[in-house]
Amino acid sequence: MKKNIDVVPLIFKKFKGLSAKMLYGFTKIGKVRVLPKRDYHYNHMKNLALVYFNLTPLCNLRCKMCGQWGDRGKMKNGRIAEEAKTIVSLERYKQIIDEIAPSHPVTYLWGGEPFLYPDLMSLAKYIVDKGLYMSVNTNGTYLEQYAEQIVRDRWSTIFVSLDAFEETNDAMRGRGSYQKVVRGFEAINREKKQQGSNYPIMGIVTTVTNQNYLMLDELAEASRSFNLDVHIFNLGTYTNDNIVAMQKQFMKEKLDTDIDCLAAYNTGYNLGIDGEKLNAILKNIHNKDYGHPMITVPSLNPKKIHTYYADLETPVRRHCIVPWCQTDINYNGDMHFCADYPDYILGNIKEQSFTEIYNGERANRFRKAIHACKGGMFPGCLRCYQNMLFGMKVKGF
Ligand SMILES: C[S@@+](CC[C@H](N)C(=O)[O-])C[C@H]1O[C@@H](n2cnc3c(N)ncnc32)[C@H](O)[C@@H]1O
Ligand code: SF4
Repeated sequence: MKKNIDVVPLIFKKFKGLSAKMLYGFTKIGKVRVLPKRDYHYNHMKNLALVYFNLTPLCNLRCKMCGQWGDRGKMKNGRIAEEAKTIVSLERYKQIIDEIAPSHPVTYLWGGEPFLYPDLMSLAKYIVDKGLYMSVNTNGTYLEQYAEQIVRDRWSTIFVSLDAFEETNDAMRGRGSYQKVVRGFEAINREKKQQGSNYPIMGIVTTVTNQNYLMLDELAEASRSFNLDVHIFNLGTYTNDNIVAMQKQFMKEKLDTDIDCLAAYNTGYNLGIDGEKLNAILKNIHNKDYGHPMITVPSLNPKKIHTYYADLETPVRRHCIVPWCQTDINYNGDMHFCADYPDYILGNIKEQSFTEIYNGERANRFRKAIHACKGGMFPGCLRCYQNMLFGMKVKGF
């Protein structure tokens, strides 16, 4: 496996039906990249490719680099008990799934920790039974408990966060979390065997920080026994004071919005990362056969890895396409385009239909503001994860 794209045929071979659904989503993403709709009466539901559902603000871990519950996390505001009462009901989510199903978007359930949403299992089953691609991003600490049902209900993908081999992982994510995840993998594998099923596709997501980057190969070695389908190295979401200040001013001026989410990613866990060393480690990992593909997001020119971490004001991706094909529904029903920075509210699904909000005046105002920006991107979006996944590479990166 030399390039990220090489993962596609491997996954296709093993999961044909699911791959077709994934491909359909990617085709729509490709379409809006070539032809973003500037007609503001356009029905954007036609290109809806990916819907994130942030199901709950609650989490059982306190991972240090996390924008929600980490060192500078925005959930540490003392209002969490109140916030948790605002979650969307299962019944309303089911109506939303019925509404978006004709567009066949990929769905992605996350949080907080999605297993703390009381009706996760029922919601996940409903989405799968509707025929939609259904991924869950979890810290993996509840997998053992729910393994039998996850496999029986044929979840499409689980992306489990694991950042390093035991000691370093647990220093970042909490004592005992590594072993809980390993027991979860064992339970899923046992169930797959007993139930004679390939599902779900099982992957690790490793967030690269200055705490774990020198030890990524230890985790890669350990992962040989997990029977994974993919291992993703996420180069991380970072920012600094200057970028936060630029974004604050911009969002106030152009969209009359006060922002407080971006600052939570000003964690400093990018500082001191030696790009050459990280590149050598990733190269070594990509060239080895661990029994499953390894991919790095964003894929970068190896010579520019240092810039990615050290010069956060250097653009790496441009032309954000998120508002033309994706959206995030926050735990309280607010819809946003930016999953990690839920400041600008498009509307609330408890009060309006998905379509009304997605095609609505506030959504179009946001789209227009992006179009008007140099490079098709707001000034604070320099390391936004969604843009790293789907934005256009800046020349050289
Ligand atoms: C916020 S978590 C929510 C889902 C679940 N609680 C989990 O940990 O997987 C979503 C993903 O973001 C990753 N993450 C945390 N902090 C990050 C950061 N600063 N940059 C990029 N990704 C980060 C997590 O490791 C996880 O894979
Ligand atoms: S488990 Fe996920 S949401 Fe919870 S603190 Fe860790 S990264 Fe954040």
